[in-house]
Amino acid sequence: MTTYITTPIYYVNAMPHLGHAYTTIVADTYARFRRLAGDEVRFQTGTDEHGEKIVQAAEKEGETPRQYVDRISDAFRQTWPLLAVEPDNFIRTTDPDHIRVVQEILQKVHDAGDIYFSEYSGHYCQGCERFLTEKELVDGKCPDHLTVPREINEQNYFFRMSRYQDWLIDHIRKNPEFITPERYRNEVLSFLSEPLEDLCISRPTSRLTWGIPLPFDDNFVTYVWFDALINYVTGIGYPDGPEFEKYWSVAEHVIAKDILKPHAIYWPTMLRAAGLAPYRRLHVHGYWNVDETKMSKSLGNVVRPRELVDEYGVDTVRYFLLREMSFGLDSSFSSEAIVARQNSDLANDLGNLFSRVLTMIGKYGQGRVPGADPSTLTAAEQELVDAAEKMITSYQEAMNGFAFHQGLQAVWELIGLLNRYIVTNAPWELAKDKARAGRLHTVLYHLAEGLRLIALVLRPVMPQAAEKMATALGMADEMRTATLETAGRWGGMVAGTAVDRGPQLFPRLDKKKKKQQPAQQEQQKRKKTKKAAKKEELPEGMITFDQFGRVDLRVAEVVAAEKIARADRLLKLTLAAPEERTVVAGIARYYAPEELVGKKVLIVANLKPAKLMGVTSQGMVLAAKETDADGNERLVLATVDGDIAPGSKVA
Ligand code: MSP
Repeated sequence: MTTYITTPIYYVNAMPHLGHAYTTIVADTYARFRRLAGDEVRFQTGTDEHGEKIVQAAEKEGETPRQYVDRISDAFRQTWPLLAVEPDNFIRTTDPDHIRVVQEILQKVHDAGDIYFSEYSGHYCQGCERFLTEKELVDGKCPDHLTVPREINEQNYFFRMSRYQDWLIDHIRKNPEFITPERYRNEVLSFLSEPLEDLCISRPTSRLTWGIPLPFDDNFVTYVWFDALINYVTGIGYPDGPEFEKYWSVAEHVIAKDILKPHAIYWPTMLRAAGLAPYRRLHVHGYWNVDETKMSKSLGNVVRPRELVDEYGVDTVRYFLLREMSFGLDSSFSSEAIVARQNSDLANDLGNLFSRVLTMIGKYGQGRVPGADPSTLTAAEQELVDAAEKMITSYQEAMNGFAFHQGLQAVWELIGLLNRYIVTNAPWELAKDKARAGRLHTVLYHLAEGLRLIALVLRPVMPQAAEKMATALGMADEMRTATLETAGRWGGMVAGTAVDRGPQLFPRLDKKKKKQQPAQQEQQKRKKTKKAAKKEELPEGMITFDQFGRVDLRVAEVVAAEKIARADRLLKLTLAAPEERTVVAGIARYYAPEELVGKKVLIVANLKPAKLMGVTSQGMVLAAKETDADGNERLVLATVDGDIAPGSKVA
């Protein structure tokens, strides 16, 4: 199979930031994942260099547009290796072959009668580089840039986009995967329920010269979006290159919600008019905020990829971004959140598992993975094998559907199980008794094999850490060329393989807050004052949506429950949410421990831990309580109305 994955080509009017980094890491991860699945893959990114915005940015820097675009485009190109992003092609819209292709397509669409000349007046938003419809304006302003658009009246060329409206609606309806997640597909369908206007695709040279001249009228240059979208076909050798033939039918684009309309409406209709098939899938993600605030230069809170990598390392940055954001929804970046993930998921769960297993193989297996002794196999090993198979299936499904956070959750479930397997099987105890050597070998083999699978599936997300893991496991060569088909099954680890503990994978980080920039401090102060002012306006007893949002409610599955000695009201619950945690609940009078196991309950997951009768409770279980007329109390646990994964957020 083949895969062609692209990022948007980024405007060169800003230096690379967290948002650009996220999209590009997503595309890189998907490219690596599809390679792991055995595909031939082409991955493209690049820069969008024409248009008014660029000319103004160049002027501001005192450079010619050419000097300016060369410099910033280079900054993007240099950023990707820092993030272990390895595109196969970096395209620039100022490349001569791109200019040629844009003109060729314009000519084709013109010849087919889909481009006409007309007078136009409209609301032009410079930030969006497009005319906004009346309906899109909010209080007369562009809702994205909060600026009043310029009223422009001029003669221009138009693309007969309206002609393809019915076809597009039909195509989206018939292909549920064309635009995902579903909310964006619905958004596009809803937009298309109104008549579609034609698209203005030129700018008079009297207003703008930094663009691609129209092949049929050199008094005009091409509208930057019409130029930019075509990069996706130029980059694979349109019209007749062998790569074009090979990759166009499988094209997948990754974008954020800000540029949905050009990708979901302009681009498919342009392709149709040019006689080309539509792309296969469009993946739309949400926006990253920083400390719950919109990222912007004026607020001084723009997060730069280079600084992130310097501070946390490339693997942690990639893991964090993919694990933290539910693809499609907005997410907030903060240094506390990334440190928490590094310490808990990476250093604690994965790093510790890894170093413990390798240390034990060093110590009890003389540095070689022992072979399992079949006569000592128990149900615990079968559980591991089943869980590993399940992990591979869920991981593949999630990664194919761009649900990276779920793919990683599936991997971390196996990591959790392996950590528990160590505790329950205590290899250090087995090592004390020669008669139990067979069992010890079985346990160590299963641990090593579990790690091998984990290193394999983490390769697309954390390529460098996965390589270190594979090297330590003595599997680097095999893993580099392995596919999921061949290596993703239980049993690939060969007994006798020499392992070497290697370097620590993920150090724990100090939780202390990073020193903030003065601009950030100022901004937070402003936020606080604003919040305080708001608070005063609240009616007694009310909370704001923000305040409610700070309560992290989750679904948790009861894994175990037991009474607490000398506390007749309390039960100690072991919950999976999906990571394991202990919660003490005052429900002993209403529930027997055994009837709780397997139940899905609701918890407050971010409550400060508290000690109750010597047990640390990490959260609170929600329950409803009623008191009848005689003062008798009855309590029932709050639960969910259907099967849903432990750890799901309740909101
Ligand atoms: N040049 C156009 C795209 C043309 S594609 C044919 C453009 N460029 S851009 O530089 O503004 O990049 C927009 C993209 O950058 C978004 O769609 C998204 O991929 C990424 N992001 C920019 N800011 C972002 C966030 N704050 N959060 C997440 N991604 C964001 O539009």
